[in-house]
Amino acid sequence: MMNWIIEEKGFYPDKAVSNGNKFLIGNGYMGVRGTLEEFTKKELTAVNLAGVYDRVGNGWREPLNAPNGLYTVLKVDGKVYNLPDVSPVEHSIWLDYRKAVFSRETTWQTPKGKVTVKAERFASLDEPHLLAMKYCVSADYNANIEIITGIDADIWDINGPHYDAFSFLQEEVCLGVIGTTHESKDKVCVIEGCQTHFHSEQQVKSDDKHIMRSLSFITEPLKTFEMNKWVAVYTSKDANDFKQQAKLLINHHMEKGYQETKDVHIRKWEKKWAVSEVVIEGDDEAMEALNYSLYHLHSIAPRHADSLSIAARGLSGQTYKGAVFWDTEMFMLDFFLYTEPAVARTLLKYRTDTLEGAKNKAKGYGYDGAFYAWESQEGGYDACSDYNVTDVFTGRPMRTYFKDKQIHISSAIVYGIMRYVDLTGDHSILEEGGAETIIECAKFYYSLLLKKVNKDYYELHDVIGPDEYHERVNNNGYSNRMAKFTFEKAMYVFDLLKLLSANTAERIENMYHIEELRQKFADAAKCLYIPGPDEDGVIEQFDGYKELEDVSVDEVKSRILNEKEYWGGAYGVATHTQIIKQADVVTWLTLFPNDFPKEILLKNWHYYEPRTEHGSSLSACMYALLACRTGMAEKAYPFFLKSARADIDEGGKQWAGLIYIGGTHPAAAGGAYMTAINGFGGLYFEDEKVKVKSQLPSTWKKLQFKVWYRGELYQVNQTHDEITIKKCDI
Ligand code: BGC
Repeated sequence: MMNWIIEEKGFYPDKAVSNGNKFLIGNGYMGVRGTLEEFTKKELTAVNLAGVYDRVGNGWREPLNAPNGLYTVLKVDGKVYNLPDVSPVEHSIWLDYRKAVFSRETTWQTPKGKVTVKAERFASLDEPHLLAMKYCVSADYNANIEIITGIDADIWDINGPHYDAFSFLQEEVCLGVIGTTHESKDKVCVIEGCQTHFHSEQQVKSDDKHIMRSLSFITEPLKTFEMNKWVAVYTSKDANDFKQQAKLLINHHMEKGYQETKDVHIRKWEKKWAVSEVVIEGDDEAMEALNYSLYHLHSIAPRHADSLSIAARGLSGQTYKGAVFWDTEMFMLDFFLYTEPAVARTLLKYRTDTLEGAKNKAKGYGYDGAFYAWESQEGGYDACSDYNVTDVFTGRPMRTYFKDKQIHISSAIVYGIMRYVDLTGDHSILEEGGAETIIECAKFYYSLLLKKVNKDYYELHDVIGPDEYHERVNNNGYSNRMAKFTFEKAMYVFDLLKLLSANTAERIENMYHIEELRQKFADAAKCLYIPGPDEDGVIEQFDGYKELEDVSVDEVKSRILNEKEYWGGAYGVATHTQIIKQADVVTWLTLFPNDFPKEILLKNWHYYEPRTEHGSSLSACMYALLACRTGMAEKAYPFFLKSARADIDEGGKQWAGLIYIGGTHPAAAGGAYMTAINGFGGLYFEDEKVKVKSQLPSTWKKLQFKVWYRGELYQVNQTHDEITIKKCDI
């Protein structure tokens, strides 16, 4: 039986950080780490805001954490009972990821008896600005209780502090904090309201980082004392009258009551699951891990916006600068295309709306067209620094070239837009900037082409492919293939112009010399060098790759002098070897399996897999997908599970030296989904029809899922003997 609950019994202080990710709740507008009510910045508590960034001095620009309006401390008979300071006699936390509600229950022994706190909270899926919490206290004696609850503005930041000043407010039933951000002087406003179902003495106190109310009362044995709390979070970017809106929201929900607000939230989640739940009969572990991954993707989907994307670590904090990578288009997009195309559109709209940023980046390097940010923040600003790694031996910043040389990023945008157009049949994204985006990406690659005097083909030199351990290589197969794809799609857009609105066609015709570009792109697509298999059937990842030292991953590991050292860069342990960080050639073959016969796909899978460290959570799913494609479902399975369990299992990298780099792994979640649906499920689209060529692992008795395709919702049921695909009534 599928269990929709992830639980941890017992209290383990060391797990506060990883649990923050595992038990995260969110609604696309904000993410709240799965920390306890009494936790502070010490335990990396965060209310992480989507798409709002700040920079202090020379630090990395990163997304904002809002003041924590859920902050609550318990005093019993005059003494604070907090974790981790006072050990509990019993403690558990759990996340019901069907309903997106996080709960905790903790019992402490006091000198006079036992006191229990049971709390739950959710980030409303119905109202993006709202968090709600229920906090219940009970004791087996007449305990003198003080609940101290309010807003903690002593915020955890990696490169902060991001607020220059806070102002506090107390109006009617509400307490509030308004912070002024450092860089752009935006306001972040958190207002909380509180309701109790019992009589208590109230007092409000504040200091320079907190505004708190204390509620004092005496418990009676066997009676539960329930407090409900509402927290509204707004920024001045959301509305000019953000404070009024926040207060209105609190008052509105206080009138409705906690249970009703929760019921609406759960009903909204049920609607999401009605389309997106994947049923796997015969393998509960896989079904649970996969749907848990989908929970994370739902929790970070920007439904409140029409032009916003998802950061590489979702809404779990500030790591990776809250920036958007190729992860979104290449790993997460399919989930949204299949289950909620409107979100897919929002993600891509963010890219078409940041085209100017990409054009400026290209110009800065002396190229044409659009070179998208490797780590994109608002406006397409590239947050990737020239020195993205600190050398553990010298403590010095290390020059890395991710931002300058990972040219494949632009093709990911083209891939995403075209996949959206193909699967939805909706051309509006092309009308609203998508057409220009594709053409500009093609212009970018065109301006990078090199031709040696005695050769008749083009090359792409000095790049970094998906495998970041080998920098500044020539003719990375993946990058070349994706550039060719981009040229082809730009030509397709030219052909499509007659189907687009007269306005769009005219705009594009006025902007570009279409015939000239068409000829250039056709020539580039035809003559761009794409490496082929050698005598062993292996495609060289880049020029000279096979001449590098051929050693095992374990051998490379054994050469490490410091467990935190970086494997790539100028003198990393992997740099001069064939050991790669993540799927590279295999990513190409997964995307374009028809480029070569099956035996070549297989040869490359078998060649590269033992040479892959899987040092990125993006790697496993590509191996899983290609394994499915080549009839190796059983080999695919452990890679699938690794992706699906990326946020359940501990062991992922959490710290690099003193820098926290952990967080959730939405690309792995999306990759697990692609493996289940496109890989094992074998879903594809041909002649405007939904088709499957299934490859179920032997333990899977049945796979069932729904997908949107061209405006219709289909349900696909597969067993080892039977496949049915039917349209659903919407
Ligand atoms: C990977 C990139 C990825 C980024 C964000 C890096 O470690 O190498 O491919 O885009 O993480 O997830």
